Amino acid sequence: MVGLAQLPIGVFDSGLGGLTVLKALRESLPREDFVYLGDVARLPYGSKSQAVVQSYARSCVNFLLAQPVKAVVIACNTASAMALETLVPEFERPLFGVVESGVLAGLSQCGNKRSVLVLGTEATVRSEAYLKGFARAAPDIKVVQLSCPLLVALAEEGWFDHSVTESVIRHYLSSVDLNAFGAVVLGCTHFPLLAPSFHRVLPPDVSLTHGARFLAEQVQRELGLRKELGASENPKVKLLATDRIQLKPALLEGWFSNASEFQVVSSLAGVANA
Ligand code: DGL
Repeated sequence: MVGLAQLPIGVFDSGLGGLTVLKALRESLPREDFVYLGDVARLPYGSKSQAVVQSYARSCVNFLLAQPVKAVVIACNTASAMALETLVPEFERPLFGVVESGVLAGLSQCGNKRSVLVLGTEATVRSEAYLKGFARAAPDIKVVQLSCPLLVALAEEGWFDHSVTESVIRHYLSSVDLNAFGAVVLGCTHFPLLAPSFHRVLPPDVSLTHGARFLAEQVQRELGLRKELGASENPKVKLLATDRIQLKPALLEGWFSNASEFQVVSSLAGVANA
């Protein structure tokens, strides 16, 4: 019988954005196997209601646990903001979300200005999860949120370093004085893919940050405490998606040398509680 420690870690996002989290997880946990699910058939999550996002997230968690996996990382800010709290008590295995780690990233980078700009989907902004997270962690921090939904499609399109992406970012950020912020927190896992375009827009002394590294450390700590860390000699990544994905070579280059293709899973329906 396979022990829990030997099982992979499940990771999901509405699409490819969660690969930015998977990358950090693989760096911090180099001896783990991973199963990644991109729920592209139902992307975007960021425009949906809380009830719908919760049901999508629940079906992804159920699907991954049925693989089986030993823990699930919700590598999507929208699903973390809208569903993590509800889902945690429903499952025996640990679930991790990305909002708390995004808050930690903002705190570590905001410097003396004590002010952060959080960029996310419309749903993440509406949930106020980041406002609440910062208020809990450091009530003196000033937090401004902006929703930037078009950036999700530009990331899925692979326009990471592109003049159109740069203009869309300029447009979204035109309502704020960027110099007022110590850090810009990318509160959507798609946005770190667009870092080259962001860097052309942000003043040089404003840090661009996101929570993937803190999240990976949290997962490592928790699995360590549970004595469930893996020790795979030849770690594997299985990439699954709920619909076809046209691979963007730039995304995979140097990231997933042993995982060249997404396998389409026919449907998440039929899985318990889907
Ligand atoms: N990557 C997801 C997030 O972190 C959202 C993209 C979407 O709207 O589906 O919020």
